[in-house]
Amino acid sequence: MILTNKRIVITGGTSGIGLEIVHQLAIDNKLIVVGRNTKVLQSLNVQYPMLETHCCDLSCPSDVSALVQCLLQKHRSLDVLINNAAMQYSKKMTDQDYDPAAISTEINTNLTAVCLLSHGLLPLLQRVEKAVVLNVNSGLALAPKASSAVYCATKAAINSFSQSLNHQLKDSHVAVLQAFMPVVDTPMTEGRGSNKISSHFAAQSLLTGIRESVIEHDIGKVKLLRWLLRIVPSVAKRIMVNA
Ligand SMILES: NC(=O)c1ccc[n+]([C@@H]2O[C@H](COP(=O)([O-])OP(=O)(O)OC[C@H]3O[C@@H](n4cnc5c(N)ncnc54)[C@H](OP(=O)(O)O)[C@@H]3O)[C@@H](O)[C@H]2O)c1
Repeated sequence: MILTNKRIVITGGTSGIGLEIVHQLAIDNKLIVVGRNTKVLQSLNVQYPMLETHCCDLSCPSDVSALVQCLLQKHRSLDVLINNAAMQYSKKMTDQDYDPAAISTEINTNLTAVCLLSHGLLPLLQRVEKAVVLNVNSGLALAPKASSAVYCATKAAINSFSQSLNHQLKDSHVAVLQAFMPVVDTPMTEGRGSNKISSHFAAQSLLTGIRESVIEHDIGKVKLLRWLLRIVPSVAKRIMVNA
């Protein structure tokens, strides 16, 4: 797909990888950016007057459904949906201060919202000759770490969901792609991880995956992880425990 003059919805366009994607696509495309941070949304509106912004809490399914209705009314078609927004609650369930309320917030944001947006916006995506749903995933979908158990589970679920949806859409013009990210230097990973790739490089790689229609795009060290999982799965899984 040539990413010029395309109508693109991106969630989580106010920070990290999503914000970088916005900067890399905003000049040549019609971007519809979803986020919660109204200050950043407003400054994007000033920087890119063509850009459309929507403030939406993706952890609230009724808000996501309202967003879908609004987009269905405003737009006749869509070329790309980038499901990028996610949160990661990094506590362990064995921690004294583990907050159980985070469980549903994380599942709603990372999984339910992706399913609702994919389903709700499918009619718009089916109106163009070639459309893409890109789900931003993680190496943790392939092998979980010890902390952030719910986050890892939502990413594994996104992997399964993306494959199923791709099967459902095999006779259509809509492709479901995934980008499997290594550790990226963004607010999500502040204060942890080493050898992070930059959000600029992460966004660039992700967009290459869309341009080249890569169904499962392993970025950076995820290539090595997937190889290790095939050759020596127990070693790969052990390495990931404390990732
Ligand atoms: N960073 C990494 O190392 C890494 C590794 C693998 C995969 N990933 C994946 O890459 C994607 C982007 O992550 P990132 O590192 O760029 O994270 P980030 O900098 O923390 O940005 C997360 C984005 O998601 C949005 N978001 C979170 N909860 C939301 C909610 N309830 N409603 C609406 N928007 C919400 C945030 O919006 P507001 O700022 O407006 O709240 C923000 O724009 C995620 O899917 C993440 O799982 C990241």
